[in-house]
Amino acid sequence: MADALPNSLLNGVIVPLIEARISPLDRGFLFGDGIYEVVPVYAGRPFRLDAHFDRLQDGLAALEITNPHSHARWTELVHELIDANGGGDMGIYLEISRGAGKGRDFLPERGMQPTVFGFCFRLAPPKPELLQRGISAATLEDIRWQRCDIKSVALVGPVMLKIEARRRGADEAILVRGERLAEGSSSAVFVVRDGRVATPPASHERLPSITRLVVADVLDALKLPLEVREVRRDELLTADEIWIASSTREALPVTSLDGQAVGEGKPGPLWRRLFDEFQALKQREGD
Ligand code: PDD
Repeated sequence: MADALPNSLLNGVIVPLIEARISPLDRGFLFGDGIYEVVPVYAGRPFRLDAHFDRLQDGLAALEITNPHSHARWTELVHELIDANGGGDMGIYLEISRGAGKGRDFLPERGMQPTVFGFCFRLAPPKPELLQRGISAATLEDIRWQRCDIKSVALVGPVMLKIEARRRGADEAILVRGERLAEGSSSAVFVVRDGRVATPPASHERLPSITRLVVADVLDALKLPLEVREVRRDELLTADEIWIASSTREALPVTSLDGQAVGEGKPGPLWRRLFDEFQALKQREGD
């Protein structure tokens, strides 16, 4: 991921990132007690912002944290943050923690003031070599908790999984629960077999990915049906194509899984169509 850009958002105010200060008693720091979002911005315009705000609201509600801002105020703040960092293509990270307590109690004090922090980072389009080659993935057993639908800042599970994937020489971990596909360690997953595209349904085992919905729209535009159903591990191992999707990586082809070629070991024909139409959709929505 790219370095942070110089200006950040702290509790409703744009401040230089190097001056942003948060209490060490903040429950985001002590307990991972907070929710985050990552929103892609193309040519200075946030992409699918409402969907990100809706998911943010759902996560805060699940943790019983009152959303500190209205939808309209969030939109203003996001635009202020984009402008303060010069626009263009970037990712925005937003975090809302339950706030800082008087000490460290598991049970939160009542009426706490949430902490809001945001910063930006450059989003570069994938390098041509990457699009030629695709990425590699390792299948790993999902060691995370039972509420993966919540975009919680407590991310030590995926951090451990990413480290293990790197040890195996892979760019991403594709997580399975027994014989079932869960999701990527930080991505949604699609599997193509015999020209049919499948992705698992929303459940407590996976994050409701916004980019997954974008891919669904792209497939719709291409008149390619999408099967939303549980995907078995053996379907991954015999797939013609595998794609991962996320707000920071759009959709990328996985061309090697556990050291074996996926399909012909290069980005497949459906992915190429998906990529082109994804770019067209970004352009249309930006306009
Ligand atoms: N992660 N599943 C998990 C576990 C994720 O962490 C992510 C994204 C996704 C894809 O969701 P979306 O399409 O809404 O980005 C699926 C972000 C980008 C991150 O943590 O940086």
